[in-house]
Amino acid sequence: MPENLLTSIREKKAPETKKKEKPDGFLATSIAYAKDDSGIDARIVTYHSPKTPISEQYRMIRTNLQRVNPENPPRLIALSSSLHREGKTTTSVNLAVAMAHDLNKNILLVDCDLRKPNVHNLLGLRMEGGMSDILTRGVELDAVFKKTRAENLTVLTSGKIPSNPSELLGSHRMRDLLVELKNRFDYVIVDTPPVLAITDTGILGALVDGVVVVVQTWRTQREALDRARSFLSNAHANIIGYILTGVEYFVPGYLANYGYHYGYGQYHGYYAHSEEV
Ligand SMILES: Nc1ncnc2c1ncn2[C@@H]1O[C@H](COP(=O)(O)OP(=O)(O)OP(=O)(O)O)[C@@H](O)[C@H]1O
Ligand SMILES: [Mg+2]
Repeated sequence: MPENLLTSIREKKAPETKKKEKPDGFLATSIAYAKDDSGIDARIVTYHSPKTPISEQYRMIRTNLQRVNPENPPRLIALSSSLHREGKTTTSVNLAVAMAHDLNKNILLVDCDLRKPNVHNLLGLRMEGGMSDILTRGVELDAVFKKTRAENLTVLTSGKIPSNPSELLGSHRMRDLLVELKNRFDYVIVDTPPVLAITDTGILGALVDGVVVVVQTWRTQREALDRARSFLSNAHANIIGYILTGVEYFVPGYLANYGYHYGYGQYHGYYAHSEEV
């Protein structure tokens, strides 16, 4: 990637334009707030305001994911990022809700961040009864699947925080569980911990069809992103794309500065194929 990626992130360089024109290079995903009595967090815009441009952007990600391999699209997809608080969970939940709503297929959202789970908070669910219960106590899947008001969306929360998350995620049972989940749902979206902070993500990355790396504008450092990519590749994870979060304004050519080459559709700069980065 060219050097100016790092420069623009570090210097928090002001956007070159504040005009909110229709982007053709990449898309903003800054969160808008909205509320009702569903218990679903206001930041889940694909639930609260599905017709807004920001929800449309999540939809575009969904479309691009299906284009990764049109004959056999990835159905078991993990979202991760290099470090903490780059938008993994918010993106995972918004994406899962958008897929469930638009595709009219059964979508499962799994919280595999067993140390710092947050999916349940965004969806107004109890954390207890989930992954850790299946992995440690052999609890039946159907006993822990949770529904939300978002149609076609099932959630598998983390369960109680275990003492040995890496061991659990690296177990044979975990491998078998993911296979079973993929068999039971059309698409499975997996929220994971940050790659550089927690080794779990490498383990998980190798077990899923593809990993999408979340990059937060002005926050993600180029070195961190590079190290995360190497780590995932060394763990035999298949990086299928990148999602840029926290974008306030469209800046022409911005993603080109990140070294992204475009592969998919009108908004392909938003989500680029790993081999092209
Ligand atoms: N698309 C976005 N645009 C702007 N802010 C965002 C976006 N997505 C998430 N955020 C904000 O970034 C912060 C971190 O979000 P989130 O919890 O989803 O990140 P995370 O990567 O899952 O964090 P962690 O590593 O702690 O699990 C939150 O304050 C959230 O509101
Ligand atoms: Mg998270």
